[in-house]
Amino acid sequence: MKESTQTSSRKLDHLRICCDKQVEVGSAGFEDVRLVHAALPECDLDAIRLETRFLGARLAAPLFIAAMTGGHPATTEVNRRLARVSERFGLAMGVGSQRAALEHPDLAESFSVVRDEAPHAFICANLGAVQLREHGAEWAERAVEMIDADALCVHLNFLQEAIQPEGDHDARGCLAAIADLCEDFKTPVIVKETGAGISKETAGLIWGAGAAAIDLGGFGGTSWAAVEVERAEEEHLRALGKTFLDWGIPTAVSLCEVAGSGPVIATGGVRNGIDIAKALALGADLGGMALPLLKPAMDGEEALTAVVSMILQELRAAMFLTGAGSVADLRKTRAYITGTTRQMLEE
Ligand SMILES: Cc1cc2nc3c(=O)[nH]c(=O)nc-3n(C[C@H](O)[C@H](O)[C@H](O)COP(=O)(O)O)c2cc1C
Repeated sequence: MKESTQTSSRKLDHLRICCDKQVEVGSAGFEDVRLVHAALPECDLDAIRLETRFLGARLAAPLFIAAMTGGHPATTEVNRRLARVSERFGLAMGVGSQRAALEHPDLAESFSVVRDEAPHAFICANLGAVQLREHGAEWAERAVEMIDADALCVHLNFLQEAIQPEGDHDARGCLAAIADLCEDFKTPVIVKETGAGISKETAGLIWGAGAAAIDLGGFGGTSWAAVEVERAEEEHLRALGKTFLDWGIPTAVSLCEVAGSGPVIATGGVRNGIDIAKALALGADLGGMALPLLKPAMDGEEALTAVVSMILQELRAAMFLTGAGSVADLRKTRAYITGTTRQMLEE
């Protein structure tokens, strides 16, 4: 199979596996976080304001639709629905890795549909750090132009690369490539993990490279080890993937390590509006979700609209019950941290 065709069909494999198989592993740690209940909230549930700002843009709510798809003609409809819902609700949204369309420009429509359907939304382009190292600012610019993006996400997925048969095993030079890009790229760069989390040390390197924001992509949600276990045709790769099912920094721990150092999106095992509220109370700017939105997006726009409405309703209720009338108030809310999350933070 040609490399470009391989990239494109891999994208479809990922979508099918994430929809049909159990790919969530472990816990992001949000069960260890308890928001302090306000028995006298002194605010009106129906007047709670979810509006927020991120990298200078106005968003109607702090929910980020995390990168998932594009790169195969069959994914166009999924991206169309995600984009229509992001436009309707005023949410930020990321597209999946644009590598396939950069290699094979006739796949660009599966991404550009997002800007067509969401002309006002904050949309993030997506490129792997390895592709950035190989192709530099030229690919970054083409990715941004393809969807008229407001930001570019550079993804880190070395756990997946390590256990994927066709994986890129050489991670050297990726940090330098990010730093080179950030030096004079006009579009803000967000560095994102994809399910294994970012430590405070790695965050220091990312800020040092000049990134505008970090998406933690922590452990406890979609596991790329689990996805690769499902894809593996060879027994030794399946076994390798299984050994690494439990690898990574849980999102709540990663968030406590990185919060306060710059704009942060907490993604990875965020599963409802209460998790978003907890993430914001711990210092995140936005809560990101991928997998919980995938199945509804495959089912149709109505199903996706219902799920997003429910998440925002849960977030509003959690804000009400902590006495937070706005996102700024929520970010000042106190939380108790217990269990493994507390232990890990005290290490
Ligand atoms: C089907 C699927 C495809 C994904 N593809 C990409 C991708 O192409 N680029 C990327 O940066 N992240 C990708 N991700 C990772 C998500 O953006 C997110 O970081 C991760 O799934 C953790 O969030 P979750 O637990 O809510 O799923 C993908 C996730 C899913 C479920």
